[in-house]
Amino acid sequence: MNSPVANSQADPYPALGLRLDPRFVGGLIEYVRARGGIPFAEFMDRSLYGLDGEGGYYNSGVVSIGNASNDDFVTAPERSRYFGRTLAKALVDMHTAMGRPGRFDVIEMGAGNGTLARDIIETLKIEHIELHDALRYTIVERSRALIVRQQRVLAGRPRVRWIHASADSLPLRKVRGVFLSNELPDAFPVHRAVVRHGELNEIYVTVDSHGNFSEEERSPSAALAAVLMDLNKVFPIAAQPEGERLTVNIRAIHWMRELGMALDEGYVLTFDYGGPGAIRKAPYTVFDWEQYPLEIGYQYPGVVDMTSHVDPIILSKVGAGEGLEPIATTKAPQGVYAQPVFLQAYGLRESLRREKDSIKRNRGLRLLGKDYSNFFALVQRKTRQISCPDKSNDQKGLLSGEAPVRQKEGVHVYRLGDIPALNDISRRGEFPAGYYVHFMRLPNMDVNLSSFRRGKVICSGCVGEDGRILWPDGLRVRAAHDTYIVITPFSASEMENRLVHGGNVASCGPYAQGCLLGEAKQ
Ligand SMILES: C[S@@+](CC[C@H](N)C(=O)[O-])C[C@H]1O[C@@H](n2cnc3c(N)ncnc32)[C@H](O)[C@@H]1O
Repeated sequence: MNSPVANSQADPYPALGLRLDPRFVGGLIEYVRARGGIPFAEFMDRSLYGLDGEGGYYNSGVVSIGNASNDDFVTAPERSRYFGRTLAKALVDMHTAMGRPGRFDVIEMGAGNGTLARDIIETLKIEHIELHDALRYTIVERSRALIVRQQRVLAGRPRVRWIHASADSLPLRKVRGVFLSNELPDAFPVHRAVVRHGELNEIYVTVDSHGNFSEEERSPSAALAAVLMDLNKVFPIAAQPEGERLTVNIRAIHWMRELGMALDEGYVLTFDYGGPGAIRKAPYTVFDWEQYPLEIGYQYPGVVDMTSHVDPIILSKVGAGEGLEPIATTKAPQGVYAQPVFLQAYGLRESLRREKDSIKRNRGLRLLGKDYSNFFALVQRKTRQISCPDKSNDQKGLLSGEAPVRQKEGVHVYRLGDIPALNDISRRGEFPAGYYVHFMRLPNMDVNLSSFRRGKVICSGCVGEDGRILWPDGLRVRAAHDTYIVITPFSASEMENRLVHGGNVASCGPYAQGCLLGEAKQ
């Protein structure tokens, strides 16, 4: 099958006001011709990142990410500083859940103008100095031109470093902290495939005798063939209808694996557009805040951005195979949240209520509106592999020689999705003996003291002498998204009493502080 898709010799759409770089286009035509055709992913890669590092959309210096009407696209951090401010709160939460280590790495991959990094660091400096002091901020960026821009924006910020590399081959290992990205995997070049008799053909780009880019179906390239087995595990190809066109983000699969290997302990926080089933959507081009069909990408290689929707379910499943467990709830079983829901959970709406400048407030509110209805937040976690002391007496384990860390006294709050972490701590006997373990319904996702007042105890267990949780026999909890586990010195009746009589847990000596992920400590 051979179908011409573009005439790249002249400026085919002068009304769009786009300027072709004839040298780059000529070079690209030669590149494709000399190879007798290339997979679509390679075409997309060259269009975005150039030939031998020269030209290409992201290298050209023309890329304009921002809030002005002549920018190509606006990302959430460019839309409003409240995106970074809210993410700073999530990072505080994660730092807390990890026991507030004195060094906490945040690795931002694909940082654009550097705006998100700036807003996170500024917020931490003003509001969370402890984390600011522990923070080591690393930007992994593929575009040299954008690194220059980021370095200007972040000039004078201590402990920020850059790695010029692709996020899917990270020169990093044993990271303790958070891997963070906004709109990264959508920028990865994607392979395009067609289901034929339960298997995949791949779409190649060729050049016809008139100098037009054409599409052609061929058997899968080595790169696609190499991931088919893994892809099949998370997305069975034989079950897809004949002729279905798929957009396979191979780099995103490698990227997830890479993160699993690089992270020793901590979180992966991925924001992007797309959703379940995005693998069935075609890539497209973007400029002037508008989406255009893929054809424009063939007409203006190196001039327009090319992108594709991201399938977070596939990422979540691939990550799970690498030890990145999704932070799941009943509503988000794969750890995939609507981005506005995630931002609300970290108090964006409340922060905006306090904003006096109406322009800033409205910009922030847009992060919760329809512009972001197809954006997701994927939240994954890796817990440290701790060697079990009673099995490893004769070995030097990771933590051997260290005294077990006892939890500080207080009220500890877990989401149901955190049960694996909870069990892990329980196995190590780290909870205060004599404490109670309550399953509670707390009406707000963003647990805070007022939500405790409106909470209800569903059932309870306790912490034994050895610090392990003793769950009630035959425990069955019908979990809802607002079910939490609260570990506290108060029995169920004391708890109810305080809740009914309007007292709050915090006023009773030991304190409670809400968090979305993991444990709340103070
Ligand atoms: C759509 S922009 C998003 C920029 C920024 N995160 C924001 O929200 O404004 C994609 C960013 O990812 C970078 N990028 C694309 N592919 C990459 C890769 N394989 N490794 C690292 N960075 C990459 C681009 O250069 C750019 O900085």
